Amino acid sequence: MRPFDGARIVLGVTGGIAAYKAGWLARLLTQSGAAVDVVMTRAATEFVAPLTFEALTGRQVHTNLFASGRALDHIHLARAANLVIVAPATANFLARVAHGRADDLLGATLLATKAPVMLVPAMNDAMWAHPQTQHNASHLREVGYTVIDPEDGPLAAGEGSGPGRMPEPEAIVAHASRLLDDGSLRARTIVVTAGPTREPVDPVRFLSNRSTGKMGVALASAAWRRGADVILIAGPLEVEPPVGIHMVRVETTEEMADAVSHALPTAQALIMAAAPADFRAATPATRKLKKVSAPAVIQLAPTLDILAHTIPHRPVGLVVVGFALETDDVLAGARAKMAEKKLDLIVANSAREPDAGFGSDTNRVTLLAPDGTSVAVPLMPKMQVADVILDRVEALLRAR
Ligand code: CTP
Repeated sequence: MRPFDGARIVLGVTGGIAAYKAGWLARLLTQSGAAVDVVMTRAATEFVAPLTFEALTGRQVHTNLFASGRALDHIHLARAANLVIVAPATANFLARVAHGRADDLLGATLLATKAPVMLVPAMNDAMWAHPQTQHNASHLREVGYTVIDPEDGPLAAGEGSGPGRMPEPEAIVAHASRLLDDGSLRARTIVVTAGPTREPVDPVRFLSNRSTGKMGVALASAAWRRGADVILIAGPLEVEPPVGIHMVRVETTEEMADAVSHALPTAQALIMAAAPADFRAATPATRKLKKVSAPAVIQLAPTLDILAHTIPHRPVGLVVVGFALETDDVLAGARAKMAEKKLDLIVANSAREPDAGFGSDTNRVTLLAPDGTSVAVPLMPKMQVADVILDRVEALLRAR
């Protein structure tokens, strides 16, 4: 089963240089299982040939409102679509849509559809920054379009660098998955922590652990896809940060604790997937420790237990999920942590398990609840483990 199986997506392509990237987008959407109907403006056909999209999607490409014998193309396309994406959307196209113009097939399709519409602007940075374009973009958001902010980076040859670049097709696909989802976590704020923390020993050295952040990032991405407002509080990650998510970067356990306290008042769920360092150097050196005079012993002090620290500050109804990574007596250790840290759910995993735990793309976990029930989840990709955990979080939220 592919993520977009059964979905029909209209991909509108307008006449900007980023039209070349729309080919890759069409391919990714098609590979994800969607039937992709490409609609090109006349200007777009100056940049990329319709044949390219026809080959990539295996479907006819639409270019003309008045193509002979297909007078109602826009109505058929609009009605069949589960999602309309326009990428790239030029400044001119945004201006036309902002005025509800239907003077070409793509404009008419946008007016006729009831599906969610995502506009992905791409243009020269000065054109994007222009008050007219900004006004059009905010007006389009007000009337219900999803307008993705362009990225900051190198523009077309000779155009320098600045905000105006079309986001990468993979990021657009992530936004599409959020718009196609039934949005079971819409209007919920979920705080997720991910990765390790680092405790300084001296200005160049630190104490940490082998966490990479994969499980936390998978949870944040999956919750975002389900429509949640996600605040991801992350230590140094070894994986790409997820698309579309407000991320707070921290270094030490104390900084992570502060960021969690700050985010908690508006949250409905806290998922502590991070592996905060449990020890810090009692007195970090202010100068680099030299080899010749290295101390034989570094005095350690415990760091704050973030979950325990939140207990008196949790908003009413907050769902709290913790993880337990153990080498021995996994379930007993996890149960003790669940009670100590007053959790609604704990995700136990063994550090001895092959293909699971830190750095692995897969995980084998057991979910334990305070009523004594447990569910052993078979080995599966972390993205799927995230979905299993979020199903439980949703059930807990519904019961509140
Ligand atoms: N945790 C926390 N603050 C810490 C350490 C851990 O909030 N300083 C959270 C983790 O994010 C996880 C849960 O507590 O959700 C259990 O973490 P784990 O490392 O398994 O256990 P610890 O409480 O650190 O206990 P120990 O290291 O002795 O097993």
